[in-house]
Amino acid sequence: MSDERVTKPKKRSSQRADLVSDVGFGKFLNLLHSVSLEGVISLGVGEPDFATPWHICEAAVDALKKGRTGYTPSTGFPELRRAVAQNLESRYGIRYDPETEIIITVGSSQAMDLAFRGIIDPGDEVIMPDPHYVCYPSCISLAHGVPVPVPTRAENGFKLEAAQIEARITPNTKVILFGYPANPTGTEMSREELAEIAEVALKHDLLVISDEIYSRLTYGVEHTCFSSLPGMKERTILLDGFSKAYAMTGWRLGYAVGPADLIAVMSKIHQHTMLSPSSMAQMAAVEALKSGEGDIRRMVTEYDQRRKVIVQGLNKIGLKCHEPKGAFYVFPSVQTTGLTSEEFTERLLLEEKVVVMPGSLFGGRGEGFVRCCYAAAMPDIEEALRRMARFVEQYQNRAQP
Ligand SMILES: Cc1ncc(COP(=O)(O)O)c(C=O)c1O
Repeated sequence: MSDERVTKPKKRSSQRADLVSDVGFGKFLNLLHSVSLEGVISLGVGEPDFATPWHICEAAVDALKKGRTGYTPSTGFPELRRAVAQNLESRYGIRYDPETEIIITVGSSQAMDLAFRGIIDPGDEVIMPDPHYVCYPSCISLAHGVPVPVPTRAENGFKLEAAQIEARITPNTKVILFGYPANPTGTEMSREELAEIAEVALKHDLLVISDEIYSRLTYGVEHTCFSSLPGMKERTILLDGFSKAYAMTGWRLGYAVGPADLIAVMSKIHQHTMLSPSSMAQMAAVEALKSGEGDIRRMVTEYDQRRKVIVQGLNKIGLKCHEPKGAFYVFPSVQTTGLTSEEFTERLLLEEKVVVMPGSLFGGRGEGFVRCCYAAAMPDIEEALRRMARFVEQYQNRAQP
C-alpha cells in the first residue's frame, strides 16, 4: 500500500452534511452535560412542561388495543386528514381537500424538510427572518437552497418587514419562509403586516412556507393564518402540528397543507423516505382535534400568567424585552451586562444554575439577546428571576466604567 493512500483517507461524511453547522448548539449542549443537574432551573428547551392530556393518551392506548399497529396510508389516516381539514375550516374559514391537500408527517419538522426537498433546486434562494428558528437554514441548505436572512429589530418587536423582504429579492428567490408566533422571539404578526408580505409574494410570484406550529399559543391577539389571506392559499405551504398546542412533542406528529401539486410532490418523497407516520400517534391526534380545545385553553391561561411574570421580572432587573404575544419565549437583551450572549449563557449556568439559550444560536441578529422559555413551573420562573437578578447586578456593576 502506498503512503499516499494511508495519509489521504477518503472523506467519510458528505459535503451536504457539512452544510449543517452545529458549532453553537453542540458546544452549548456539551456545557449543559458537563455541570451537575442538581438545582438547575431550565428555561432552555422549547417544549411544554405539561404532560399530554390523558384522554389523548387513552385514544392511543385504544388504538393499540384494537390492533391499529401497522403502517397507515402514507399521507396519514383519512379520519385524521378530515379532522385537520375541519379544524382549519373552523379556525380560519379556509377549506382544504383532505384527499389531495393535506399530508400527515412526523412532526412539523418532517413537513418542513419535505417542503424544501420538494420545491427547492440548487441555488434557489429562501428569504427568512433573522433571528429565526435554529433549523430553518439547515433545512434549506440540506435541500441545496440558499438561506437569505432578513435582519429584524428589537425596536419593533422583531417583526418581519415587507420592504426588507422585497429589498432582498433576486432572480433566484423562490420562497419566503417564516413562522409566527416566532421562535425565539415570541413575536406575532398582525393581519395587516402579513398582508403586506402577501403582496410581495404575489408581485414577485414567490411561494411561502408558513410555519404556524405556535398558532394556538397567543395572548390577547388573534392569530392570522397566512394561507387565509387573499391569493395566498394557492402559493402557501402551511405547517402545523400537535407538539406545542396539545403538549405532544414526543408523539412526533404534524402536518402540511397546501396546493395539491406541491402536496403531491411532498407525498412522493414522504412515501419513499418515511413510508407513513405512527399509527397510534395519529389516533391520539384525532382525539386531540375532537376534544382538546379545553386543554389548550387551560395551558394557554397558565402560559399567559407566566409570561406576564417573566416579562415584568426581566425588565425590572434590567434585561429589557418586548412583550411577546405568542409561543412561550421571551427574548431579552443582555447588552447591559457587557457579555456576549454565549458568555452570558455559560456564566449564568455555571454561576447560578439557570439555563437559557444564547441568542446567537438563532442567527446574527440574535447576538446580544438570550431566549428564555417560560414553559416552566411558576416557582421555577420566580426563582430563576431571583438568580438572574443577582447575576445581572454583578455584571452590570462591572460593565459600568
Ligand atoms: C418554530 C418551530 N417550528 C417547528 C418546530 C418543530 O416542531 P415539531 O415538534 O412539530 O417537529 C419547532 C420546535 O421547537 C419550532 O420551534
